[in-house]
This record gives sequence, C-alpha cells and structure tokens, in this order.
Amino acid sequence: MDLILVALSGIFLFLPALVPNSAAVLFGGGTPVDFGRTWRGKRILGDGKTWTGLIGGVAAGTSLGIILVLITMGLDVQAPLNWGEGLEALGVVFALSLGSLLGDMVGAFIKRRLGMERGHKAPILDQYDFVAGALGLTALLFPAWVASRYVSGESIIALIALLVFVPVLHRVVNIIGFKMGKKKEPW
Ligand code: CTP
Ligand code: MG
Repeated sequence: MDLILVALSGIFLFLPALVPNSAAVLFGGGTPVDFGRTWRGKRILGDGKTWTGLIGGVAAGTSLGIILVLITMGLDVQAPLNWGEGLEALGVVFALSLGSLLGDMVGAFIKRRLGMERGHKAPILDQYDFVAGALGLTALLFPAWVASRYVSGESIIALIALLVFVPVLHRVVNIIGFKMGKKKEPW
C-alpha cells in the first residue's frame, strides 16, 4: 500500500480515540470521577475528570466508530483499512474510545502526583496519555488488530503518523475549544 495511504489510515482508524477528548469537554461539568477525594494530600484525579465527560466521551467516540464501521463494512473496505471483521470491529472502536479516556485519567493521576493543578500544562503527557491509553487497551483486548494496523511491516508508518500528527491535531482542536469558550486553557 502507498505509504501516504498507510499514514492516513493510521489517523483515520484512530478517530474513535480522538473524538472522546473533545466530546468530554462538551459533556463535562458534573461529578468528578474521584468524587473529590484526595490521596496523600492531593486530589486523586481532580475536577477536570468527570463522570459525564467520561461516559459522554466514550459514547460519542463509540457512536462515531459504529457509524464508520457500518460505512466501511457497507463499502466492503478490506483490511488493513478497517476496524476488523464482524463483532471484533465493535470491540475495537469501543476499546479505542474507552482506552483514550482511561489514558487521559492516568495522565491526570500522574499530574496530580507531580503537584500540578487541574489544567496545568504538562507537555508530552497531555498529548500522548490518551494515545497510549487507546493503543494500550486495544492492544490488550485485540492484539492482532493493533499489530497488523500499527506495528508489523509498513504499518509502523501508521504509528509514526499518529505520534507526529496527533499532538498537532490535539493542539488545534484545543485552541478551537478555547476560542469557543468551551475549554479553560488552549492546550
Ligand atoms: N473532561 C471531563 N471528564 C473527563 C475528561 C475531560 O469532564 N473524563 C472535561 C473537563 O471539563 C476538562 C476538559 O474536559 O477540564 C479538558 O480536558 P483535559 O484537558 O484533559 O483536562 P484538564 O482540565 O486540563 O485537567 P488535567 O490537568 O487533569 O488534565
Ligand atoms: Mg488539559
């Protein structure tokens, strides 16, 4: 396959993991996931991680994923440009969405342990926590899918494309969210 196409497929297949972050900003504002509890004098996760953000974000990412799965199946798009065969595809898009926000929460947990307040800028962690979470959970549940789309042979180009473009995309989307008044900081 054309290397540009492999790179684009890496981003395209990752859409169910990209949407939850933006959706969480729109759905957030409710009860914090840690219920306000602290650990060793600092919040476990902080007010930036809420149940409505988590559930709404996963629902949004999975919904988009299901629509894309139905479209690609309808068009009979073959591997590696799809989320897998049959029910596996639904599992993969759910794992990408949930893993994304679980990774985001692990990032928040680390930030709180480092003494950073909610919304404090943490380069690398802010841009990659959800990438690691999404790929990590999906690799755990669907190792063959992740290997064939992001690791083996020329598909490693898809992983490189993710690592290069996701931080750029993340930043652009956050600046838009900030300008719209939906996000407190532009990162
Ligand atoms: N959000 C949410 N629930 C989540 C994730 C995000 O409600 N599980 C919402 C919060 O309103 C959060 C916003 O999305 O403030 C932006 O997310 P993010 O940048 O990840 O959080 P920060 O506010 O920067 O907090 P932290 O320092 O903990 O990353
Ligand atoms: Mg942040």
